[in-house]
Amino acid sequence: MKKKITILDVQKMKDNGEKIAMLTCYDYPSARIMDECGLDILLVGDSVGVVVSGCDNTLPVTMEEIIYHTRAVARAKPKSLLVADMPFLSYQTDLREARLNAGRLVRDGGAEAVKLEGGENFTDCIKAIVDMDIPVMAHIGLTPQSIHRMGGYRVQGKSEEAGEKLLADAVAIQRAGAFSVVLEGIPRTLGRQITAELSIPTIGIGAGEYCDGQVLVIHDILGLCEKYSPKFVKRYADVKAVMSEAVRRYAAEVKAGEFPAEEHSFS
Ligand code: KIV
Repeated sequence: MKKKITILDVQKMKDNGEKIAMLTCYDYPSARIMDECGLDILLVGDSVGVVVSGCDNTLPVTMEEIIYHTRAVARAKPKSLLVADMPFLSYQTDLREARLNAGRLVRDGGAEAVKLEGGENFTDCIKAIVDMDIPVMAHIGLTPQSIHRMGGYRVQGKSEEAGEKLLADAVAIQRAGAFSVVLEGIPRTLGRQITAELSIPTIGIGAGEYCDGQVLVIHDILGLCEKYSPKFVKRYADVKAVMSEAVRRYAAEVKAGEFPAEEHSFS
């Protein structure tokens, strides 16, 4: 039986050169299935706003929504480490608010760690949360909550200067006590450089093969969300086709009077 994964195991995996597999997860039945598939980390990402709730970006996602989805995933009692995203405005305004909201994700949601977007300018926030004994996963590079500053979802760290800034961010995050860092949308050579420089694990999404681990959005790998199709996504299944076929057959059978049959009825 799979053993419970903690942040200590995630660190050991980096130390032993073992790759870390992480996916987003937002609900109970998916968590039950996904937890038996060899993953190390489940992330209740604020991407839930886009792929589940239909928002244009992650900015409208609230604490209540993340807590709701984290609680649903936690009910599956996953052996994978359960990380919850801190949504926009839940940690940027002041440290007290950040601590309180990180605590709510743990107390009310059942998260075992929190993730927040930001580099050097968020080290006080990371320290404040880590000081409460809540593990923090940082997130730098293409940070979706900064969509308006970036002018869209664009690869970050392409120039030498921008790459150096991201490396400095990563080092500062590690010094602040984060247990890992997501590197999103950066050149693979920069992903390699940051991964080599840090002693904590890097988890890449569009950051190349040298990262210590990889993360993708579950709806993207299952072919369930066609809104955006970034280059870094690999589709592993066409669940949309399977779902459409099942729903079409159901609708056709209802209209033809073929469902319910006798075996689906009470006498
Ligand atoms: O919200 C999210 O899903 C994420 C990951 C894709 C890193 O932040």
